[in-house]
Amino acid sequence: MVSTASLWNACGAPAMKDLEQAELKQEWESYTPEQHAIWRTLFHRQEAILARRACQPFLDGLKALGVEAEGIPDFRRLNEALERATRWGIVAVPGLVADDVFFEHLANRRFPSTCFIRRQDQLDYLQEPDIFHDIFGHVPMLMNPVFADYMQAYGEGGLKALRLGNLHHLARLYWYTVEFGLIRTAEGLRIYGSGIVSSKGESIYCLENPAPRRLGFALLRVMRTNYHIDRFQQTYFVIDDFRQLFDATRPDFTPYYAALANLPDLAPDAVLPSDTRFDREA
Ligand code: PHE
Ligand code: FE
Repeated sequence: MVSTASLWNACGAPAMKDLEQAELKQEWESYTPEQHAIWRTLFHRQEAILARRACQPFLDGLKALGVEAEGIPDFRRLNEALERATRWGIVAVPGLVADDVFFEHLANRRFPSTCFIRRQDQLDYLQEPDIFHDIFGHVPMLMNPVFADYMQAYGEGGLKALRLGNLHHLARLYWYTVEFGLIRTAEGLRIYGSGIVSSKGESIYCLENPAPRRLGFALLRVMRTNYHIDRFQQTYFVIDDFRQLFDATRPDFTPYYAALANLPDLAPDAVLPSDTRFDREA
């Protein structure tokens, strides 16, 4: 998924009706040749753009999955590779699922994915997640052991945030890491966020356009920051490595949530004196 229903709702999208947790099959055999061709078009386009823009774990994960040739991948095949690499799996869902269902899946190392693919006239932009976003965008990073553990921990944290009434704070963490995260490497900034890697325009914009802010990752700072669901981001948060992300999010968030109750939310384009900026580097 791009996100849980509440990631979208937090930004004023129409309230999503909770969907039943349907046991769904991908029904890979029923995709048409045209639908497989749309996958291949998107895949080859992104492969070229991401060669020197995506981080190495993403590129390695993509390669290890071996999904390119067949068109839309068969979840049964992906699940074999995922199971072997990190004991993750994919479950088919009809669309955005209820928050508790979403977190329960992640906490059990199951990634909920849509099955439908966008139409030919939607190649460049689709607001809601489709199978290209969910699979091409998310699954390569799930092949990485540290990131795989982060996603499971996030699911457990989601169930806790639901109980504590802090979902909007935790949802921002998902948005600015899993969906739109950047990482520093010796070769410069690289992409790991799935919302970026599945978007042709944003893959280039996030690294090369002078407009957006690129700020050092700081947990509470991220959880205070609102975001846009319907346009390129105004701010990207940059991690040093996945270990940093995992370690920063390991502690019990209960005291953080208490602190956040006294801190105002920040606009998507806010810059604080305490921010580390990576967009001003020569
Ligand atoms: N440690 C967090 C908590 O106690 C859980 C979490 C882990 C949240 C990883 C996000 C990412 O809530
Ligand atoms: Fe997603």
